[in-house]
Amino acid sequence: MLRAIALTRRDPVRDITLLHPASFGIAAGDRVVITGPSGSGKSVFLRALALLDPVDDGTIQWRGQPIARGAIPSYRRRVAYIAQRPAMLDGSVEDNLRYPFSLKVYRDVRFDRARVVELANRAGREAGFLDKRASDLSGGEAQIAALIRVLQVDPDILLLDEPTASLDPASALEIEALVDAWFAGGRGERASIWVSHDPAQAQRVGERQLVMTAGVLA
Ligand SMILES: Nc1ncnc2c1ncn2[C@@H]1O[C@H](COP(=O)(O)OP(=O)(O)OP(=O)(O)O)[C@@H](O)[C@H]1O
Ligand SMILES: [Mg+2]
Repeated sequence: MLRAIALTRRDPVRDITLLHPASFGIAAGDRVVITGPSGSGKSVFLRALALLDPVDDGTIQWRGQPIARGAIPSYRRRVAYIAQRPAMLDGSVEDNLRYPFSLKVYRDVRFDRARVVELANRAGREAGFLDKRASDLSGGEAQIAALIRVLQVDPDILLLDEPTASLDPASALEIEALVDAWFAGGRGERASIWVSHDPAQAQRVGERQLVMTAGVLA
């Protein structure tokens, strides 16, 4: 589905390499886990894959083709990055969940309140969760809202950057189950990369284990 060839990222200010040439492929059905110390470049790598940050070298291919500049929004619809500390807009959780539908790339789909309430329930949140102010969310609640915001639009690949780092163990298991359900809904056509510091979780959510060490993916 997705292939990165010699993806490289430097920090021009400190003149150091954040991501050494990383080559990586992910096929339908793959469940990849990336572990590694804090500051080793896991988020840098995921953000590069999502085309959120400019890279200094290397290319990304989506289904065998390079991604043209104009195709980046639709690529990001297919390959969804869920940030470690998700950004929320002012307003309610529901406003945040509705936001993607205001973008051109989602004009063919409609916000489905019943569906997001169901996703919230499965993440252990009542319907009232949608009425909370986004600025009042705890770190874990913001992670749940960000995951629902992405799951409601059925991406093909999830790039999950420590999505349960701020959650209690029971909520973390609910998030794992939500991702499992998304996987099952894709009939083998979906794939995920999950960054985790928790070895037990890494065992549960991944079949392919990679380690990032000082910007080197292996
Ligand atoms: N835009 C940037 N410009 C310069 N340096 C950056 C940038 N983004 C990240 N870094 C640096 O790159 C290194 C890797 O950061 P990254 O966020 O990828 O770590 P990580 O492996 O995700 O760590 P953690 O497990 O704590 O989330 C860090 O030293 C960080 O300070
Ligand atoms: Mg990180």
